Amino acid sequence: MLETLTELDALRGRVAGWKREGLRVALVPTMGNLHAGHFSLVELARARADRVVASVFVNPTQFGPGEDFERYPRTPDADAAGLDAAGCDAVWMPSVETMYPFGIDGTVRMVVPGVTAVLEGAHRPGHFDGVATVVARLFNQVQPDVAVFGRKDYQQLAVIRYLVRELAFPLEVVAAPILREADGLAMSSRNQYLSATERPRAAAIHATLQAMRQAFEAGGAVESVERMATSRLAAEGFDVDYAVVQRTDLSGPAVQGAPWVALVAARLGRTRLIDNLESGS
Ligand code: PAJ
Repeated sequence: MLETLTELDALRGRVAGWKREGLRVALVPTMGNLHAGHFSLVELARARADRVVASVFVNPTQFGPGEDFERYPRTPDADAAGLDAAGCDAVWMPSVETMYPFGIDGTVRMVVPGVTAVLEGAHRPGHFDGVATVVARLFNQVQPDVAVFGRKDYQQLAVIRYLVRELAFPLEVVAAPILREADGLAMSSRNQYLSATERPRAAAIHATLQAMRQAFEAGGAVESVERMATSRLAAEGFDVDYAVVQRTDLSGPAVQGAPWVALVAARLGRTRLIDNLESGS
């Protein structure tokens, strides 16, 4: 049975009890409106630990002005039912006041250098600082032995790994594969913003990533692969923020013969979508 926890003392007591029994605890951080992609993270967490806590918190500090914080879908009852069915032991659903006791203006913020400067970081200033700010709190609140994040948010995963190493959090980070719809669209809570006419067109992102793989692995130059991807997406009606082939540490353009990752961020109407494809995946 899933236990819903909204107070810090109750969460701490529950996790401390498990730890006294010598149980290994996993955390799956989410913003709710859960789909099969999230549930696959819970499944992976169950394989890596004895008890699984999922957090559901729409984090105000990682949304920029004019982004979708207010309209971000909030479905706590369905989330709890889904987590229960997925075999999750507890869901941590703090209020904004519990997460940020001194209010947003009183928040002690993380500022993460390096990998946050490019791609998502460049298009969403402050976004990864907000992610790091809330994830560091979640780690302190839950004190997990292992934390599971999806490869869907490739750069976020890099930021989390950096944060864990930099602040010496005593936990293991586990990366979960991207779950997709039948037509290749990566599952996302934001997919429901898509209109009935936009939804089928959104599959072009994954098709473009596959075309990028084919072109790059055939020996294509990075710039020409990126140009091809951008015009292909533009032809489908996307506003492209970036379509790039990078080294896996995002330090610059990919080089032939070394591992690479293709990343896309593009807007279709009011919906901004991101996806990626790693070499060897
Ligand atoms: P959210 O977008 O809800 O995603 C929660 C976790 O689910 C992330 O680790 C994300 O990478 C993973 N995920 C989402 N869609 C996925 C898919 N199709 N396949 C596999 N994994 C998927 O990411 C966040 O929330 C927030 O930034 C958070 C880390 C919770 C901090 O607020």
